[in-house]
Amino acid sequence: MIPRDWLNPHATGQHPNRARADARPPWINSENSAICGHPSGDDSIACDPLPNIKAGKRMRITVVGTGYVGLVVGTGFAESGHQVTCVDRESERIQGLKEGRLPFYEPGLEELVARNLEEERLHFSTDLSAVVGDSLLVFLCVGTPPSPDGGADISEVVNAVEQVAQAMTGYRIIVSKSTCPVGTADLLRETVRKHTKHPFDMVVNPEFLKEGAAVDDFMRPDRVVIGCDDVRVEEIMKELYAPFLRTGKPLIVMTIRSAEMTKYAVNSMLASRISLMNELATLCEAYGADVGEVREGLATDSRIGSAYLFPGLGFGGSCLPKDVVAAAQLARRANVGASMLEAVTTVNERQQQRFVERILDYYGAVVAQKKVAIWGVSFKPRTDDVRCAPALRVIDALLGAGATVVVYDPVAGPKILAMYGDKVAVAPKNYAALEGADGLVICTEWNEFRRPDYERMASLLREKVIFDGRNLYTPKVLADLGFRYFSIGRPSV
Ligand SMILES: NC(=O)c1ccc[n+]([C@@H]2O[C@H](COP(=O)([O-])OP(=O)(O)OC[C@H]3O[C@@H](n4cnc5c(N)ncnc54)[C@H](O)[C@@H]3O)[C@@H](O)[C@H]2O)c1
Repeated sequence: MIPRDWLNPHATGQHPNRARADARPPWINSENSAICGHPSGDDSIACDPLPNIKAGKRMRITVVGTGYVGLVVGTGFAESGHQVTCVDRESERIQGLKEGRLPFYEPGLEELVARNLEEERLHFSTDLSAVVGDSLLVFLCVGTPPSPDGGADISEVVNAVEQVAQAMTGYRIIVSKSTCPVGTADLLRETVRKHTKHPFDMVVNPEFLKEGAAVDDFMRPDRVVIGCDDVRVEEIMKELYAPFLRTGKPLIVMTIRSAEMTKYAVNSMLASRISLMNELATLCEAYGADVGEVREGLATDSRIGSAYLFPGLGFGGSCLPKDVVAAAQLARRANVGASMLEAVTTVNERQQQRFVERILDYYGAVVAQKKVAIWGVSFKPRTDDVRCAPALRVIDALLGAGATVVVYDPVAGPKILAMYGDKVAVAPKNYAALEGADGLVICTEWNEFRRPDYERMASLLREKVIFDGRNLYTPKVLADLGFRYFSIGRPSV
């Protein structure tokens, strides 16, 4: 049961260890197999272990959760030489991973998992208690989906930390990578204390990887954020991340609450840029301007920069939508305003709705007799993640209106089949989806859609109309070929 005051906005979260910087971690003089090489070897573990770790000691690490974050994080630490066991409650997933089969698509990850499995640095298990007994560091990488009231549902994190606490056999560093509301680490600390007498430290280490580029983002991060109350634990975290920061990118140490907030701040900022751009795109449409040209004028301003300025059919995915709503919910709990955060979500909703309405308005009353092709269903390219993907909204609206839907996605087809069964058809190739279709809707900007054979498209489509939610094509080119072409923030042709 989560105590009601767990999220006291006025608590400091200060940990007494900050003031005890001269004290030694309780595990220094104990038998400790959490650092590889001990107790079998003469690794001087009985003296201060930090010098040992600094000298490049391999650590034993448990990663709880083998989703998009946990699997990348665990494999990344294994690649840097540590002994990592990734744990998941889903036995089928773990069995697949032991055989080198990934539960999702992420470029470059399969090879990395295979190599580290082969070199016996990476292990998979469903038995949390067995592996936590052996690890110095335990990373929590379980899900924090939205709860019905909009806030983040942290029950998976609380459950996981309870299990970790019950399995502890000595001092552990528990690191939360899950995106959790500010104050959660205090609750997790209380939870651990209830379930174990062993000492521990809590760290918040938000993850900033992007699906589709997750391996690269983890191996070469812009920065690492560590929320930590103990200077010696801070040193261990620095040592752990040193191989990933060789290019001089910073590791930023801050209070635990600031680290929790930083993750929400980053996603709120990114989502705000997209929503502002989408609102500007609508203005462009209203006044006959071209948002592509406007974007260039914006992006070249060094105060603004070019990232996250592409208008589209609204942002989706498992992070931005839920994190912006959760940040706004944090503000409501603290009785402070969050008008901008709320507006980001409102604009995003409106953007998705406008796109759907444009399609339905075009077909009008005869939509139920139409067969519509959709290219791309994942929420962005290079991932098969369809959580909160805007394409789902398009599919649902078309099915709801009685239309026939054929989708093609380079990797997310099986997920759509699993979700919709025979309600939608999944085409094996992009052009196959167009055969006899009354129009094409583009929802994800996969590279293979960028330079298609327009003449082949025209010959396959029954009705030459394209609704492009990603502005992939030049309106004039399509108009010259006789297409009707609707994009975002540009004149329709
Ligand atoms: N996906 C991203 O791009 C991304 C990026 C940064 C941060 N995050 C955050 O990281 C966290 C994890 O995200 P994700 O996308 O990897 O989630 P996910 O849903 O893909 O994976 C979570 C995994 O944890 C497992 N799990 C849950 N409880 C468990 C338990 N008690 N023991 C063992 N396994 C357990 C689940 O079976 C699942 O496989 C979330 O808080 C998310 O907001 C996600």
